[in-house]
Amino acid sequence: MARRKFIAGNWKMYKTTAEATVFAQMFRMLLEEKPIPQADLAICAPFTQLAALEEAFRGSSVGVGAQNMHFAEEGAYTGEISAPMLKEIGVDICIIGHSERRQYFAETDETVNRKLEAAFAAEIVPIFCIGETLKERDAGQAFAVVERQLRAGLSGIPEANAVEAVIAYEPVWAIGTGRTATADQAQEMCAFIRQTLVSLYGVEAADRICIQYGGSVKPENAEELLAQPDIDGALVGGASLVPEQFHEICNAVSAMVK
Ligand code: 13P
Repeated sequence: MARRKFIAGNWKMYKTTAEATVFAQMFRMLLEEKPIPQADLAICAPFTQLAALEEAFRGSSVGVGAQNMHFAEEGAYTGEISAPMLKEIGVDICIIGHSERRQYFAETDETVNRKLEAAFAAEIVPIFCIGETLKERDAGQAFAVVERQLRAGLSGIPEANAVEAVIAYEPVWAIGTGRTATADQAQEMCAFIRQTLVSLYGVEAADRICIQYGGSVKPENAEELLAQPDIDGALVGGASLVPEQFHEICNAVSAMVK
């Protein structure tokens, strides 16, 4: 069975709620003109925009996700948001372990693992991000780093949950730099990730898990990246802020899924 494609936008810390609502209206119009039934679509937005986006995308094929969550259900964690709080407003997707959170907010393999456990417990689909820095790639450590992040993040996670996860391979050197990984580089690492998943959960489970590529995905390179056998989708930063660009990227799957 072919895996479904899943294209998600990561808005990072961009857009006001008013701007998000305008985006949703424009994106829905583009989808009415040219629907994309071959892929699941989602926008991962800042917390304050989630409720408005849920409403604006209701009845459409676009899901709404958060970009982070705490691992506890509740507690004295000033400034944090829990999985049940996201669920309450209808959000059932969440990016976990993005490299910007690892880099600037002290996210570790261990906190990522706890957040993944919490996401599954709340029936939130995690988009679990992994990827090496340029220094690590240049030192020949890319595969070792990605394998460590993957195994540590999924530590203790049973197969029944793991098959619902989305793994996003995002080489840090390709994020926001305009320097995308080549389709061959991206495929090579995504195939390696799937092999590692085989060793963790077996062939059948690994075959079901959605692996996205992220890092300077644009309308110009989306088709080639998405055509790779182990790349099942994309996590799109900058280009997801512009409705036409994001629609064009999502539409790249139409070229290949018949
Ligand atoms: P860019 O598409 O802007 O490079 O960002 C990628 C990213 O970090 C998505 O999570």
